[in-house]
Amino acid sequence: MAMVYAVGVGPGDPELLTRKAERILRSADVILAPVSLPGDASVAHETVKEFVDEARQELIIHQFPMTSDKSRLIPAWQEAAALIADRVAEGKTVAFITIGDPLLYSTFIYLLRIFRENYPQISIEIIPGISSINTAAAVAGVPLAEAEEKIVIIPATAGLPAIAEALAAYETVVLLKVKPFYADILELLRQTGRSESSLFVERVGSARQLILSDISAMAAHSPDYLSLMIIRRP
Ligand SMILES: C[S@@+](CC[C@H](N)C(=O)[O-])C[C@H]1O[C@@H](n2cnc3c(N)ncnc32)[C@H](O)[C@@H]1O
Repeated sequence: MAMVYAVGVGPGDPELLTRKAERILRSADVILAPVSLPGDASVAHETVKEFVDEARQELIIHQFPMTSDKSRLIPAWQEAAALIADRVAEGKTVAFITIGDPLLYSTFIYLLRIFRENYPQISIEIIPGISSINTAAAVAGVPLAEAEEKIVIIPATAGLPAIAEALAAYETVVLLKVKPFYADILELLRQTGRSESSLFVERVGSARQLILSDISAMAAHSPDYLSLMIIRRP
């Protein structure tokens, strides 16, 4: 039956795709991969390249601007939803691929809302993916939480006061989207005695993976968008 799958493809390592994700990607008629900038490589597409046969399957690279400006985002989501709905109306199965997990800070969440509102007749199945957080913890061998410990995930865009509050309340704080506030975050970690218990992880699961546990090495590094931090209470 023609339908839409949201497929979490994990953090960038093709071996970290689930068997279900691989099966759906091999059989879908259309694969839709998001990018932020025109001409950019799609990390999700790079991850699944070996499972997609472009001679048989249609690959659509769709641009979703990296902005919080809703007047630019909403048209991009609506355009993608319409594009997918057109393919489904033709009897095709569409796989929307997303890095990590589709329901964790992913563009797919906005699309899901549009589908539920504007195309309720289309069936959607969500295939969970291994998130960047789980992968980062695994490669570094750092526990995320144990026993009665509490853990929180915060996009650094929530602001420094929110991060400071979280550090006081939770044993583990995971920061996503650290790039724009990196220097301020490092300063906060120093001030709150977290210099020895923080981990910086960039491009986990890819050939460019970088793991830093030394705060001076972190300070000397310029992070890219695909980087996160795991901060444990000392
Ligand atoms: C829009 S969120 C997507 C999260 C994704 N859905 C997941 O489950 O991991 C983007 C943020 O996730 C983190 N991220 C995603 N992939 C990553 C990777 N391969 N290595 C390190 N951090 C990553 C970064 O903090 C990045 O700014």
